[in-house]
Amino acid sequence: MDSRHLSHAWYGAGTLTRGIGPANIGLMEAEEERATSHEPREAVNILGIETSCDETAAAVVADGRIVKSSVVASQTKLHEKYGGVVPEVASRAHIEKIYPVIAEAIEQAQVTRDEIDAVAVANQPGLTIALVVGVTAAKTLSFAWEKPLIAINHLHAHLQSAMLDEEHLELPAVALIVSGGHTCLYDCESPLELQLLGSTIDDAAGEAFDKVATILRLPYPGGPSIEKAAKDGDPSAVQFPRSMLGPDSLDFSFSGIKTAVLYHCRGQDMKGENRVDSMSRQQIADIAASFQAAIIEVLVKKTLRAAEKIDAKTVLLGGGVAANNALRDAIQQMCDSSVPARKLLVAPKPYCTDNAVMVASLAYYKFKAGLFADLSLEAKAHG
Ligand code: KG4
Ligand code: ZN
Repeated sequence: MDSRHLSHAWYGAGTLTRGIGPANIGLMEAEEERATSHEPREAVNILGIETSCDETAAAVVADGRIVKSSVVASQTKLHEKYGGVVPEVASRAHIEKIYPVIAEAIEQAQVTRDEIDAVAVANQPGLTIALVVGVTAAKTLSFAWEKPLIAINHLHAHLQSAMLDEEHLELPAVALIVSGGHTCLYDCESPLELQLLGSTIDDAAGEAFDKVATILRLPYPGGPSIEKAAKDGDPSAVQFPRSMLGPDSLDFSFSGIKTAVLYHCRGQDMKGENRVDSMSRQQIADIAASFQAAIIEVLVKKTLRAAEKIDAKTVLLGGGVAANNALRDAIQQMCDSSVPARKLLVAPKPYCTDNAVMVASLAYYKFKAGLFADLSLEAKAHG
């Protein structure tokens, strides 16, 4: 729950006067100087911070849509030898990178501390020991700079990245968020009014891509590797299961398809070795393409089901898996062939995977609504 009292008192009541070098976070200096009142400038600049999983990211966004800077330090190299994200490793890397990344975002944006109106951070859901690094940094800066603090739900931020270029949503709107940790459908009335319609009951779509890539011995992260391999494959080569969970369900289940790929590679009795090592490139490409086609078919059918249920005029698509071209094309096709056609808003590719632009962008709407957090803000695994 957002707590409003503290930041309300802060906002407009004072900020730093002296122009501190933009790259200089300067916490000590901040403590020395307190300024008199200042009116908000026309543009609202928000510093966004994101550390929910394996990217350390910071960005400055003006008025929710003008991207002044976006810095993302990826940890892919650190996790690739484990074939997945190791929370302890992720947390340590965030600690190392968080302040340099924030400093770079401020420098690239060419704003002074004075010109930043609020500090926003993704505090849920995600890996708690990763989230806590961003949350601690944001609370520290908010306190030292006397700027309001804004708590952002990481999934809602993913959804926001699909709205970056759109000022007015044509309602009703249904949103599909597909990431490494979540697969969700929302009825979306505005950036701040979202109603969950369905979500995965086991693996997330991105998680399935990552696990199947491991089975196929394709490099981490799995999503882009499967997409690349699938380009040369036949999507009808292997008929993998499409779990729909009943005729009305808007929930997802992807653990079955992952197991089906494993059975396909090791034999039905699961006694054999993984045959992937002796498979041809074409066979692996066929499995990748067939798996991707099955996942996409389920995502598209469920999104259409949700769109029909709420009579959606607009469909939004975001999250790491939304970077997948085949999924983007399939959802576009679904929207085009609906009668009447539905409008698709899809996150720009750089803002599909984790980034802080989406955090700072969504924070603008909370800023305008006066929805501020206080220094008791916590990182939460679920949300
Ligand atoms: O949103 P995100 O960066 O992090 C989470 O919030 O989880 O999503 C990461 C997920 C990973 O599972 C990754 O394999 C998947 O997004 N992904 C893709 C593609 N690019 C990233 N999946 C399919 N196709 C892609 N091109
Ligand atoms: Zn994410």
